[in-house]
Amino acid sequence: MKRTCKQLLAISLLCCAFVAQAQLKPNDIIAANTLFADYGCAGCHDFSSKLVGPSLQEIAQRYKGKKDTVKIANVIRLGGQGQWGELAHPANEGIEKQNATLLAKWILSGAKQN
Ligand code: HEC
Repeated sequence: MKRTCKQLLAISLLCCAFVAQAQLKPNDIIAANTLFADYGCAGCHDFSSKLVGPSLQEIAQRYKGKKDTVKIANVIRLGGQGQWGELAHPANEGIEKQNATLLAKWILSGAKQN
């Protein structure tokens, strides 16, 4: 019994370490907030209320636990439609791939503000 407890503890510690590693670094969070403002995302998306598009919280909630960074980065760059309602997401190919990926990771991990 004791041994099982120790094993469980070890497993949960490993999980914590893994989750911590998946989190964005403070500099990435600052960069993502800047991109979000600079690319006009904030005109259609709020952190917690629905505007033209879904709130960042809703998006993070819907994709929780799924590995959808690539898919979401593509919507941010190339546009998308039909996932949340009638309105389409505009394409914005001026965003570099790596910045779209950073925005996607930031949103999916809960969109922390600075
Ligand atoms: C003109 C308004 C508008 C702008 C600007 C805009 N969005 Fe959107 N966004 C939308 C709409 C509308 C949807 C819902 C699309 C749908 O139903 O598939 C959406 C959906 C999304 C989704 C969820 C995609 C999915 O498939 O579930 C993400 C993530 C997102 N937007 C991020 C961004 C980011 C990051 C920016 C800035 C680079 C941005 N949006 C700029 C209107 C906008």
